[in-house]
Amino acid sequence: MPNVILLGPPGAGKGTQAKRLEDERGMVQLSTGDMLRAARTSGTEMGRRVAEVMDRGELVTDDIVIGLIGERLSASQGGGFIFDGFPRTLKQADALAALLDRMGQRLDAVIEMQVDDAVLVARITGRYICGSCGAVYHDTTRPTRVAGVCDACGSTDLRRRADDTEEALKQRLLEYYKKTSPLIGYYYAKGLLTTVDGLADMDAVGAAVAAVLDRRG
Ligand code: AP5
Ligand code: MG
Repeated sequence: MPNVILLGPPGAGKGTQAKRLEDERGMVQLSTGDMLRAARTSGTEMGRRVAEVMDRGELVTDDIVIGLIGERLSASQGGGFIFDGFPRTLKQADALAALLDRMGQRLDAVIEMQVDDAVLVARITGRYICGSCGAVYHDTTRPTRVAGVCDACGSTDLRRRADDTEEALKQRLLEYYKKTSPLIGYYYAKGLLTTVDGLADMDAVGAAVAAVLDRRG
């Protein structure tokens, strides 16, 4: 199965499409955001520091996220990874290449989800997630079928993210443009980049992502 990176600003729809690929193709979502949110509830000093950084909308240090991804990759067999929110810096991109190389795996595609900043505030402030399985919902564009109950796993632990405020979003966007957007050129130069329209409805974005994987996988 192909290995793919979903690249895009906060609210672009990376998590939404990653979950879809898991359901439809049995691929494996590796979201550093989800891993860090799990770490922050661990009650450790590291978890507390990570929480502060995330809530401000800043990036966590490269070493921490590279360590998290390295652990997950070495614990898994085969491929079919969806990298969601990783890499976010050139250093992380180089580390990922080295990790995949060591496993005899390669990157097949990088999908840039292009959106208009103007839609992101509404997407982020309307989002809620399942604290149990990580499914992603939205007050208006994708509510749960039964209010208060996760469609995917039945959990009632639906919550907002602490960094889903307008203020933290500004910082997250700034971090994206400063540190992550250079990856667009980096992967273009490697011949791996495809851009899809992230403003389309979720099914249309899903179809565009699927078409890229069918072509490149
Ligand atoms: P992370 O969890 O990765 O957050 P993010 O990149 O800011 O992206 P989001 O999860 O906010 O958006 P998404 O693209 O997944 O959109 P979603 O599908 O949910 O990272 C959080 C923090 O962790 C970072 O700020 C940083 O501190 C730290 N971190 C993580 N990784 C790191 C790394 N590698 N290095 C350093 N630090 C790291 O969709 C958003 C909403 O829109 C949802 O409500 C959804 O229902 C809705 N929606 C989705 N698609 C559509 C559509 N097509 N039409 C209408 N609505 C849609
Ligand atoms: Mg996400």
